[in-house]
Amino acid sequence: MPRIAYVNGRYLPHSEAAVHIEDRGYQFADGVYEVCEIRHGVIVDLTRHLDRLDRSLSELQMKCPMSRAALTQVIREVARRNRVKNGLFYLQVTRGVARRDHVFPSADTPPSLVITAKITDPSIIARKNETGLKAITLPDNRWDRVDIKSVGLLPNAMARQAAKEQGAQEAIYIDARGMVTEGAATNVWIVDQDGILVTRPAEHGILRGITRTGLMDVTAKLGIEVAEREFSRDEMLAAREVFITAATSICFPIVEIDGQTIGNGHPGAMSERIRSAFFDIAEKTVI
Ligand code: PDD
Repeated sequence: MPRIAYVNGRYLPHSEAAVHIEDRGYQFADGVYEVCEIRHGVIVDLTRHLDRLDRSLSELQMKCPMSRAALTQVIREVARRNRVKNGLFYLQVTRGVARRDHVFPSADTPPSLVITAKITDPSIIARKNETGLKAITLPDNRWDRVDIKSVGLLPNAMARQAAKEQGAQEAIYIDARGMVTEGAATNVWIVDQDGILVTRPAEHGILRGITRTGLMDVTAKLGIEVAEREFSRDEMLAAREVFITAATSICFPIVEIDGQTIGNGHPGAMSERIRSAFFDIAEKTVI
């Protein structure tokens, strides 16, 4: 079955879907995006993803190309046309097409909107949850506005590539003070030496992950205490458990960082417990 993409008002075969060469997303990474999980035929936490999209757009003085209701319909249609029961959709809004000039084009320039969807294999995710992943750490070399979900992801791509070259699956950023910020495409959590679940506050230095927020709902429901505080690389390496969260993976255990074993070297009980409760508690939008 051919994949279908939505591009500026049209549903096109994936192989023919394209934007203009002077799209500002292409020339300046002048755009924002969202990735949202689809599981068992429902979209997970759509409202929060679209709220964050609105926030990213407004921080960059950009407008959403259509109303929330219309956008939701297009997202559902893309998921339906690609027959996605388990997978994700990707949505990107850029400042549109304009003659190359660093200064923003006039406010009436129509933004570009691209939405794609893809099927993922739940058994691959299940396998990673059983074995756990490896990570590396590296200095956080990104810009100061990582709270905006911008398509400018070159540092993140380089970090993931460095992880791959070292036989790991994620790269965890460390700031100038030795504190953990987040992963190249994930938020980081630890279970500290006292058994407390800890994650960095989202006010500065990280993207406020929608999965992170969803996990707060889960922990509240299960009566698990969460400390929102900074933690260092050393504390992470000495933690009982480390796991990472993102819409694409929900909650992957990390069993080795920079070649050092975390905890007993096996996925921990906390990530397992939280993961199994996540879907029931999350908002579900039927495709
Ligand atoms: N990444 N931090 C960064 C830098 C991210 O890129 C992401 C998500 C997250 C987790 O956010 P959420 O829980 O809302 O997915 C944190 C997406 C999945 C991506 O770039 O593919």
